[in-house]
Amino acid sequence: MQGDTASQAATLGVAGERPSTGPLVEARKLTKVHPARGGAAALVAVDGIDFRLERGEAFGFLGPNGAGKSSTMRMIACVSPPTSGTLRMLGMDAATDGSAIRARIGVVPQDDSLDAALTVRENLLVYGRYFGLSRATVRERSDKLLDFARLEDKADQRVETLSGGMRRRLTIARSLINDPELLLLDEPTTGLDPQARHVLWERLFQLKSQGVTLILTTHYMDEAEQLCDRLVIMDGGRIVAEGSPRSLIDAHVTREVLELRFADADREKATDVVLALAPGPVCQRVDVLPDRLLVYADDGDDALAVVNAAGLEPLTALVRRASLEDVFLTLTGRSLVE
Ligand SMILES: Nc1ncnc2c1ncn2[C@@H]1O[C@H](COP(=O)(O)OP(=O)(O)O)[C@@H](O)[C@H]1O
Ligand SMILES: [Mg+2]
Repeated sequence: MQGDTASQAATLGVAGERPSTGPLVEARKLTKVHPARGGAAALVAVDGIDFRLERGEAFGFLGPNGAGKSSTMRMIACVSPPTSGTLRMLGMDAATDGSAIRARIGVVPQDDSLDAALTVRENLLVYGRYFGLSRATVRERSDKLLDFARLEDKADQRVETLSGGMRRRLTIARSLINDPELLLLDEPTTGLDPQARHVLWERLFQLKSQGVTLILTTHYMDEAEQLCDRLVIMDGGRIVAEGSPRSLIDAHVTREVLELRFADADREKATDVVLALAPGPVCQRVDVLPDRLLVYADDGDDALAVVNAAGLEPLTALVRRASLEDVFLTLTGRSLVE
């Protein structure tokens, strides 16, 4: 599928602007203010963020609902102009070269915009024609993409008959019709069951291994951990941390987390006792959640021994590796998924 990228670039006259070293996307002080409308005041959805990514990376925006992820993605997709700041992509300026950029990227929006009345194959054909591709090229690519999305046997069914996971795969297939160098995925698996998510992840891995640069948003920390080489954590329109999943965990939390649940009658007293254990030689920090306590420790079993030695008897005690969810909680005091 990568075959004619070079000729595409040559046609657009941008080959010379594609150094293998410089960033593929670079945003500086990127800002989006949604203007006041109706009774609602103007809203700063993206508040002066900086990020850059290199060709071949899988880059993520992780954050809760309302963090500004979709507003950012719509600017990168060149469908929503930045209010201020600069956004350079593929050697061009998103503010002025939107159509040339759009020809070379693929976009999977947060909400599927498939034509439900058309068949699976027709959706690919119609979309391909938007890019001015020849009928023969679109047919050939559609066949390959149906295979890639594992939708060959659904090709002649109408989209309205597909499951959510199949629709998402079709939207991804559709976004690849112009053989993009960069693929944007806004919450690719939100609302899908675990099985459907895993199928999608596997397809995205395959794209990544073929050299397609991925930018995705998610509020699922496991998705970010699985798919992203590097990510930024967003909250309230700002970037609060940046790095690889591993480096973010290493920088902001301990190696392990002990999750404790207590009976209602014991909870208040137990919370006081556990809070008093940190910071200490074993327990570094404690977060109090509505239903449980999180004890951050490099060794969760040692932490549990300390808790038991303090005379506490939790209903359940679970030791797990620290995750990006813990990083988010540590940085913002809130959970990613409410
Ligand atoms: N078109 C719009 N007009 C006005 N406000 C918007 C619009 N799109 C998003 N917002 C607001 O901007 C903020 C960020 O939204 P969004 O970018 O969709 O975040 P996320 O994708 O992280 O959930 C939210 O408060 C949302 O209500
Ligand atoms: Mg969104």
